[in-house]
This record gives sequence, C-alpha cells and structure tokens, in this order.
Amino acid sequence: MKPFQAVRVSERVYWVGAVDWRVRDFHGYSTSRGSTYNAFLVEADRLTLVDTVKAPFLDEMMQRISSVCDPSKIDVIVSNHSEMDHTGALPDTVEMVKPSEVYASKMGVDALAAHFHWDREVKAVSSGDRLDLGGAVLHFIETRMLHWPDSMVAYLPEDRLLFSQDGFGMHLASTERFDDLLPMALLEEEARKYYANILMPFSGLVEKLVRDIAGMELEIDVLCPDHGPVWRKNVQWIIDKWNTWASKPKIPRGLVIYDTMWGSTGKMARAVAEGMLHKGVESKVFPLRATHISDVASELLEASALVVGSPTLNGRIFPSVAECLNYLGGLKPKGLVGAAFGSYGWSGESVKELNGILEKMKVHLVSGGFSVKYVPKDDDLEKCFELGAAVAGELLRESG
Ligand code: FEO
Repeated sequence: MKPFQAVRVSERVYWVGAVDWRVRDFHGYSTSRGSTYNAFLVEADRLTLVDTVKAPFLDEMMQRISSVCDPSKIDVIVSNHSEMDHTGALPDTVEMVKPSEVYASKMGVDALAAHFHWDREVKAVSSGDRLDLGGAVLHFIETRMLHWPDSMVAYLPEDRLLFSQDGFGMHLASTERFDDLLPMALLEEEARKYYANILMPFSGLVEKLVRDIAGMELEIDVLCPDHGPVWRKNVQWIIDKWNTWASKPKIPRGLVIYDTMWGSTGKMARAVAEGMLHKGVESKVFPLRATHISDVASELLEASALVVGSPTLNGRIFPSVAECLNYLGGLKPKGLVGAAFGSYGWSGESVKELNGILEKMKVHLVSGGFSVKYVPKDDDLEKCFELGAAVAGELLRESG
C-alpha cells in the first residue's frame, strides 16, 4: 500500500488533508505540537473537494485524493475560508483538476481574488444557499468574522456532517484522525489555546453561531474542522466548550505576568500570587521571557484577574511586558479585575504606564498599583501580598 492514504470519516466523505509535524510558529502563535490542514472529499455524483491545504502540502493532499479517485474527476471545489493555510494549494489544485465550478462566500470570492490575482471565476454563495452535488446537497452558512470576513461552513445532511473550517479546530499534529482516539485532556488543552488565540476577540459572534446552530436544529454526528482531529464522539462537548469560553463565566482564577531585570519584580510577583491564594484564589505566575504570549492567552481565557508587573527600563515598561499586553489587548479579554506593580531605579514610570494599558483593556483596577525602589524590603513584599489579596477579594465579590 502507498503512503498518504485518504481516511474515510463518514459514508460519503474522506479526509484528504496533510499533517504538518514541523510547524512551531503559526503567524506568531506557538504551535508546539504541530498542526494539520484538513481537506475533505465528498463522494457524490459531482465529486467535490472541500478546502485545500497549505501550499507546501499540495503533493500530500493530491496523493491522498489519488488513493480513492482520479483527481481529474473532481467537479467542484468549495473554499470555506480564504486564509492561506487552506488555500495556499488552491491555485495549483484548480490548475491540476480543472473543476467545473469553484465556490466561496461573497467575501471569499473577493478575498481569493485579492490573494491570487487570478481570472478564475469563483461563484458566490450565501447563507441558506444549497448546492446539489447529486446524491448529496451542501447547505451553506456564512460565519462572518469567525474568524475572517469570508468564513463560512457547509452542512451535509445526508451524512449529518458539518464542514466547520477553522471552527472547533486546534493545532495538533497526530497520526490519529478522530477525537475518540486521542486523550481528552490533550484535546481540551489545544482546543482552549486555539479558541483563546484565534476566537477570543469574536466571542459574541461565537455565542450567536452556537445559538444559530441550535436554532437550525442541525443534527451533527461528524464535525470536520480544518485543523486537528475530526470530532465524531465528542461533538456536543466541543460545541459546549466553545459556548462556555464565549460566554466567559467568572472562574475565580488569577494570572500574574511579569518580567524582571535583577529579580525584584519577580519577587514581588510571587508575593502578589501568595496574597491571592491567601484569599482562596488560585493563580498562575508567568515570567514573560520564559513564556510564549500565546500560552499566556490560553491561560487568560479562563482567568478572572490579570496582575501585571514590570521594571522601568529607560523610562518605559519592559519590552516583553509591552509585547504581551499589546497581544492580549488585541484579543479583547472581558471581565477582568487587576492591578499593576513593579520596581525601578530612579524614574519609575512602569506602574503608571501599565495602569494606562490595563485601563484601555477595560481591566477593573483595584488600586493605583505599587512600586518599589530597587529591591523590595519585607514590608514592601507585605504590600504586594496585600495587593494580591485585594485583587482576589474584588474578584470574589464580582463573582458573587
Ligand atoms: Fe486555519 Fe483562519 O486559517
């Protein structure tokens, strides 16, 4: 048997994607376990390819397709999302198989044109449109800004299967193709990280999507995202998880992030965390030069407090702290209580600058923060402990 076989995921559908064991950086997101680019082949009278793969994986996808059919027999290609991890191989695929029709959302048509500057006709579909493939009908649902303007999903009622593009996915390379063949703790960790880093800013739209799916009463036995495993056992579990993350329930958990030059701000960070714990609030402490920002985002998703520490360096906050807050601010986390702290040598601007950034992020600050000249004394560390306790107290009060 040749390598790179297609994998059947339902009566009419094969997985024909690619596994990227090597990728460790996905436009700034740390993909420490690699990823997959999932493409799917629908066996109907009109043979249909749903999404493609990142450009370097064209050969792998074509070999998987060839394991079950002659690729030139593909009649239709559907592009649910124009980002290059799913369309990088699209122009070459179109060139090789010469499909009769290529479909995308209206925004997708524009996005594909802007990416590839091609004269290929791409037909636009909208929510509610159906495409009869002969023996199977694709139902399209636009999911604008989940997470790009062009995003859409396609439902195949004959197999009770939803092609959900990035939705309900994760960056996880594996030899297994299905959720029930992988540990749930691993799936939860990677799904949470994916949601936090890609979907957090669009949580209101995620809630609406989950409501819409429920309202349409779609029966989904198989959920096919464009990254990670196909869901066939825990479909409702991952939908419920997304709904929970989108609605941001108040979990009494804190996050203390900091950087330090000579250990003073680091010592303060540990005292702040002790103060939170004293009030019964568990917190995690992350030194930012030793922690990737996408891992901080993953932890922030389920946290209700964000306390930030930075030394003053050349009149500003430390670069790693600035980078992290710039990233977290873009993710628009909601409902956070927090505070700032730091050490300084002579000018001491860091706490004031941190307060301004946290206020812009709509973090509810419990105080004006606390700063220490050079090295904290015992009573300074007690004040850091009290700062952590104050944050925890407010968090618990707001959590009810
Ligand atoms: Fe997996 Fe938004 O691309």
